[in-house]
Amino acid sequence: MAETTEGAAQAQEIAEEEVSEAQIAVHWREEEYYQPPEKFPAQANASDPAILERFSEEHFPECFVEYAEMLEWDKKWDTILDTSNAPFWKWWIGGRLNACVNCVDRHLEARGEKNALIWVPEPEDAEIQEITYAELHRRVNEFAALLRDFVGAKVGDRVTFHLPMVPELPVSMLACARMGVIHSEVFGGFSGTACGQRMGDAESKILVTVDAYYRNGELIDHKIKADDAIEAARKDGIEVEKVLVWRRIPGEYHSQSEMVEGRDFFIDELLEQYRGQEVEPESMPAEAPLFLMYTSGTTGRPKGCQHSTGGYLSYVTGTSKYYQDIHPDDTYWCFADIGWITGHSYIVYGPLSLGTTSVMYEGVPTYPDAGRPWRIAEKLGVNIFHTAPTTIRMLRKLGPNEPEKYNYHFKTMTTVGEPIEPDVWRWYHEFVGKGQAAITDTWWQTENGGFLGSTLPGLQPMKPGSCGPGVLGIYPVIFDENGDEIPGGSGKAGNMCIRNPWPGIFQTIWGQPERFVETYYAKYNNNPDSQDWRDWPYFSGDGAVQAADGYFRILGRVDDVINVAGHRLGTKEIESAAIEVEEVAEAAAVPVVDEVRGKIVEVYVALKPGHEPSKEIEQKVSAQINKDIGPIARPKNVWIVADMPKTRSGKIMRRVIAAVSNFADVGDVTTLANPEIVDGIRQHVQSEKLSKGEVPKELTEKEKAEIASYGQAE
Ligand code: PRX
Repeated sequence: MAETTEGAAQAQEIAEEEVSEAQIAVHWREEEYYQPPEKFPAQANASDPAILERFSEEHFPECFVEYAEMLEWDKKWDTILDTSNAPFWKWWIGGRLNACVNCVDRHLEARGEKNALIWVPEPEDAEIQEITYAELHRRVNEFAALLRDFVGAKVGDRVTFHLPMVPELPVSMLACARMGVIHSEVFGGFSGTACGQRMGDAESKILVTVDAYYRNGELIDHKIKADDAIEAARKDGIEVEKVLVWRRIPGEYHSQSEMVEGRDFFIDELLEQYRGQEVEPESMPAEAPLFLMYTSGTTGRPKGCQHSTGGYLSYVTGTSKYYQDIHPDDTYWCFADIGWITGHSYIVYGPLSLGTTSVMYEGVPTYPDAGRPWRIAEKLGVNIFHTAPTTIRMLRKLGPNEPEKYNYHFKTMTTVGEPIEPDVWRWYHEFVGKGQAAITDTWWQTENGGFLGSTLPGLQPMKPGSCGPGVLGIYPVIFDENGDEIPGGSGKAGNMCIRNPWPGIFQTIWGQPERFVETYYAKYNNNPDSQDWRDWPYFSGDGAVQAADGYFRILGRVDDVINVAGHRLGTKEIESAAIEVEEVAEAAAVPVVDEVRGKIVEVYVALKPGHEPSKEIEQKVSAQINKDIGPIARPKNVWIVADMPKTRSGKIMRRVIAAVSNFADVGDVTTLANPEIVDGIRQHVQSEKLSKGEVPKELTEKEKAEIASYGQAE
């Protein structure tokens, strides 16, 4: 297992040299390789190294035909890639297909009675729903008939969903896909106002919601948010015409919000008229938008990432097959929320396109205890598991030894969403995977449709903390601020970019094409008239470092870099160092404005259960950061808190603690999963700072804006 990676010592040496302002300093040490279990490659979808050659740059863009051929087309494409309106890339021009047919209808003959979805409700004694492909087909068609005849939805219309993890969400998505209607799902944990703003932006007049859902043991009122959504959409000039309400418990209504006559309707009642109806699938051009997925930029209007039908579906199908090693007979569980791109691509479209069984879970990982995910895996025979580092950290914190109590076996495990600290990776490998699973750490973004950086589990070894090289057909590069390439093995970090287009890339920002070009392509383009894709590297906004073996290590958003006396330090490596301290479960580093050095670092940590806050732990954290990175990153203070302020998707809201550390306004905390903890943290931190004699610094407008947006990009 343990081979030392090439060039490690050299990289370390170089990293210790001075770095210029154009670069981000890196102090990470190289990690060892891990190999998948011996029997893995024999059954893997990608086990012949010839695949690497087939997807090498000289075969671009034809290499992606392999992905397109995994789909069923009504008409094959004439052109693979059209670059004439760069950087608005067009894939599979002339091709026609339907995404719902590919995810449902085409499996009916061979696998109609096999489960497409297994839905696990949060209450542990509630009945699990097994939905076969035939049943999914029936549900999707009936809802599509309702959308067609009752709502009058047509090709190209936008329908917004504000749905949590209920099986009606994929049903609603696939019904839209069947009709060529563009769906726009807003994460269920977002506020009604956020949903309404997205409706306004998409000019969407139909809202699909649910009355209530279970979360952490409670039946939460959700329909109530529709009232705020309608208000917010109205402010943006959109009058919502219909609110369609699924009911979590059929026949019952669990919301304080009144149903408005003529506008709000219970879907289960309406569906009575559409029983057994079928809707002819629309044969859509490959380039037709399939859905919008909003992501928040640092400031201003949300960005509606517009994803295509043919390009997107081919990309998620191909990457699901090769990187998650999904076979039709697997039971695959992506423990994420469909309200994020991960769920769209890797709970719904990718796995269903491959005809596998995809598991959905309604609730939180630790309900009623930290053994729940492993009981689900055991009960359902899950053999592929996919989740985010934040969930892994939470499960490690609350139930480090829980996995061994359950009899399940994972052949592959995926992580996604943020850099995973090597320590956490090792727990995932050893405890969750029982040392027997191949881990794919998948780096990508809402904008990208599917994975961009990862290891092929049957062919490339894993390395904790690194996502791996570019995936098949993706050629990444790291540029410094001046556009100079930073070579692999130099130990220096820079901006992670992708040199080429790929089928899963989003088509534009809905209604904001200039912003699309400006945000993602303008930075490294020297000729705006060029139609050659080589002139248009995609700027991801992430910082990264490439090792001598070609593996990338992602440092996080470049906006999250803390600039101490001209040294740009990646937040993630400070946090990784802090988490090496045995008692620490989670860490977040934030900048504090400092007269002398510009910014200095402060670190917040939450402890594993059974440990009490102490000066000694604070000192250990400080010493570890000093050791791993150097005195430049030594925190001014280490704050031990009971929990971090987090979004509903589990990301730490660094801007909130940054505001606390800087005596600035914490801003709106209502979208947090745990807003109640903020006051306690503020009182504890600020009173201690004042008693130590710290004088709150008067912040400039620029500093205030920086703090308010710190770590905000999602
Ligand atoms: O900073 C990177 C981080 O998450 C960002 C994208 O977030 P979002 O659009 O919400 O999509 C998340 C799911 C694809 C990236 O810019 N990120 C995502 N995956 C990883 C990651 N950072 C490190 N390693 C990853 N595997």
